[in-house]
Amino acid sequence: MKVYIESYGCAANDADTNLMRNMILSRHEIVGDPWRADAIIINTCTVRGETERKIIKRIRELEDIRRKIGGKLIVAGCMAKAQPALVLNAAPEASLISPQRVSEILEVLESNVREIRITGYGAKSLEGAVKGGLTVTIPIAEGCLGNCSYCIVKLARGGLKSYSIEEIKRVVRKAVEEGAREIRLTAQDTAAYGMDIGTNLAKLLREILEIPGGYIIRIGMMTPNNALKIIDDLMEIYEDERIYKFMHIPLQSGDDEILKLMNRRYSVNDYKTIVRKFRSKYPMGFITTDIISGFPMESEEAHKRTIRVIEETKPDKVNVAKYSPRPHTKAAALPQLPESIRSERCREIVEVSRRISLERNMMHVGRIEDALVLKVDGETAKARMKNYRLVKINGCGEILGRTVKVKITGAKTTHLIGELTP
Ligand code: 5AD
Repeated sequence: MKVYIESYGCAANDADTNLMRNMILSRHEIVGDPWRADAIIINTCTVRGETERKIIKRIRELEDIRRKIGGKLIVAGCMAKAQPALVLNAAPEASLISPQRVSEILEVLESNVREIRITGYGAKSLEGAVKGGLTVTIPIAEGCLGNCSYCIVKLARGGLKSYSIEEIKRVVRKAVEEGAREIRLTAQDTAAYGMDIGTNLAKLLREILEIPGGYIIRIGMMTPNNALKIIDDLMEIYEDERIYKFMHIPLQSGDDEILKLMNRRYSVNDYKTIVRKFRSKYPMGFITTDIISGFPMESEEAHKRTIRVIEETKPDKVNVAKYSPRPHTKAAALPQLPESIRSERCREIVEVSRRISLERNMMHVGRIEDALVLKVDGETAKARMKNYRLVKINGCGEILGRTVKVKITGAKTTHLIGELTP
């Protein structure tokens, strides 16, 4: 069978797509054009309203192709799980498969009837979900312990299910042996890792770091409340040069009342404590945060408080999303702010955070830094410094996969410019 597959969304979804692709390749062929396929798979995301609209449009297009040439359309991932009716409205004959059951993709593909597999759990192997290369992304857990009032992902990905330390170690060791230099550990909340199986992220990291090799680890998003529980241990582990001095701690709002309405289970002060502990040890360390602008009932003062916290804590990068009401979530039932206010607040936050990003990047100009080269595009190499900052190096030779010394000559909002030094 010829199978076409396309994928949207986060690293967890990419991992699910890898898993499906690897399983399909054991028996079938993967093609790059839906018009030439006997079956079409779309692995979906539905985190925000705009994503939902984009994906639904694409499902309709793929359904249209399927109608013309025959065969099966399989809708996988978070939208299949959280909004099956919406998907079936766009593609009435589609088969559905939830993120928990992607390992059943061959059965769904090969079945003569339409399959709806969106409840319960299938057996997912971590090995099959990891794609080799210089950068390797490894999911360490699925789901989360939270219950954020705006979030539809909880509905799609469910409660926390951590992979065992042994399984993760096995996968990291294999990746390193096969030449991986950057290991990205991801989860909906990496700080929650292990809390369902009697361990924690700090213990996992200590175990992984026993694996010898010249790799560097990027620790993915950590919810502040869970990060705070292990922060001192984490800061000790960060001393290892194989951990990027990087933290992704989503604040979402700089106002305690809004955080309560979001059901975030931490205070603005908790977030500040984490930032302080990290930056006092690593002043140049990279902090990414996420903000939702225009959450229901957010007052002008609450919004200003968010801006003040950003100005005070100076995150190196802010992912701002305009609040969008998601079906089956509590926040969707609260009184909503007009679109114009949500957009205006989003724009203001983007402006403040861009200025801070540039300011923080400028601090590096003139310095000489080690950077790991992860991509070479023609004359330009893209490398990551020890604090995860991206540096673009011009006019270089064969340096892919190497750690090089770079003189930082310029700074932009999103990256640095550098040149190789001997
Ligand atoms: N509206 C806007 N942004 C959202 N996010 C999650 N749900 C919503 C929503 N309903 C954002 C959060 C999260 C990121 C992945 O997406 O900021 O950290």
